[in-house]
Amino acid sequence: MEVLNTKVAIIGSGPAGLLLGQLLYKAGIEHVIIEQRSAEYVSARIRAGILEQVSVDLLKQAGVDQHLKEIGLPHQGIKILTGGEKHRIDLSGLTNGKQVTVYGQTEVTKDLMQARNEAGLTTFYESNDVKIHDFYEKPYVTFTQNGKQYRIDCEFIAGCDGYHGVCRASVPQNQIKTFEKVYPFGWLGILADVPPVSDELIYVQSERGFALCSMRSNTRSRYYLQVPLTDQVAEWSDERFWEELKHRLDPESRKKLVTGASIEKSIAPLRSFVTEPMRFGKLFLAGDAAHIVPPTGAKGLNLAASDIAYLSNALTEFYLNNSEQGINEYSEKCLKRVWKAERFSWWMTHLLHRFETESDFDIKIKKAELAYILGSEAGKTTLAENYVGLAY
Ligand code: APR
Ligand code: PHB
Repeated sequence: MEVLNTKVAIIGSGPAGLLLGQLLYKAGIEHVIIEQRSAEYVSARIRAGILEQVSVDLLKQAGVDQHLKEIGLPHQGIKILTGGEKHRIDLSGLTNGKQVTVYGQTEVTKDLMQARNEAGLTTFYESNDVKIHDFYEKPYVTFTQNGKQYRIDCEFIAGCDGYHGVCRASVPQNQIKTFEKVYPFGWLGILADVPPVSDELIYVQSERGFALCSMRSNTRSRYYLQVPLTDQVAEWSDERFWEELKHRLDPESRKKLVTGASIEKSIAPLRSFVTEPMRFGKLFLAGDAAHIVPPTGAKGLNLAASDIAYLSNALTEFYLNNSEQGINEYSEKCLKRVWKAERFSWWMTHLLHRFETESDFDIKIKKAELAYILGSEAGKTTLAENYVGLAY
């Protein structure tokens, strides 16, 4: 067995782990990343694509915003389509000039991986049987790679290993509480090399269910449909997808919609999930390992980024200023922001989706709520303020 030593062992090389690695590197704090998948797999995963301003700022601080500056699309508004009519939410006008940036998570991951390669930092890809040990006292991580056994002694472990990871699962049951809501539908998403139907995202509330018109660039579109959880991707030919999307759109968008062959198609379930606390001795959970939001508010990656902002600051303060304050406040600070984003994502999901169990009364109330939000400056401001991202 090879025994190595580092300050921070990061488990998982999704956006959370990679961003933490990059910020620690910038601060001169030694670390390694241990990832169970291959680098090719990690860099090819397709996820959401909306960055809050604070996430863009953090990527800049990490020195990985070159490509983002070149091809990211700043958006000052979104549209909500309901009752066959589109309503614009002027994100910038309602939030003192804030905006969001359309930039795929796949690109964020690639940029971070490239910066990591250039800096020659250590990542153990394709690690098997990853285990974390003794994280209340003297933490260490064990795993095998290419048949060789490793042990990494460290001072802290960052659990950035996503919802199915090993870190949260290693915490004793009596030390952790989880909160969960599972939604009775999924999102069927497709990616296609066709120009987007609109220059801004359209969130669609319709009697046939929710839909979302998003994009990755001016020539690549991302569309989603609410579908029953029992549906299989194989049941959805491209033709069927486009037909159903057209049914959910308004006449103008239907006419403008350019269809084409899909280059990716998948169904994702929707879930709200929070772990409390997010720190256990010398183990920190961050990103999807600690919380999940349904994608309706586009908060998943942004929440992972805010956890990492708090965590990298806490570790920097610890190593550079000899202060434990950031470490002690980590969980509380993260959870404050996490629960606000959970509430917003739950609310957007509830408002815009069709639930099979809802009564005629429920439907009328939701319609009235949407009409109120869209017809009131206060209502639109509350939506805009949350969508562009709450302050850290
Ligand atoms: N050992 C090592 N690595 C692991 C293990 C394990 N036992 N289990 C999981 N991993 C890896 C996964 O292969 C993955 O690469 O941890 C990584 C977790 O990455 P993500 O799931 O992308 O989670 P995170 O980095 O927190 O990113 C959050 O991703 O799912 C979206 O909406 C979410 O946008 C948000 C972002
Ligand atoms: C996406 O482009 O994938 C996307 C955009 C906004 C969302 C969710 C997903 O709310």
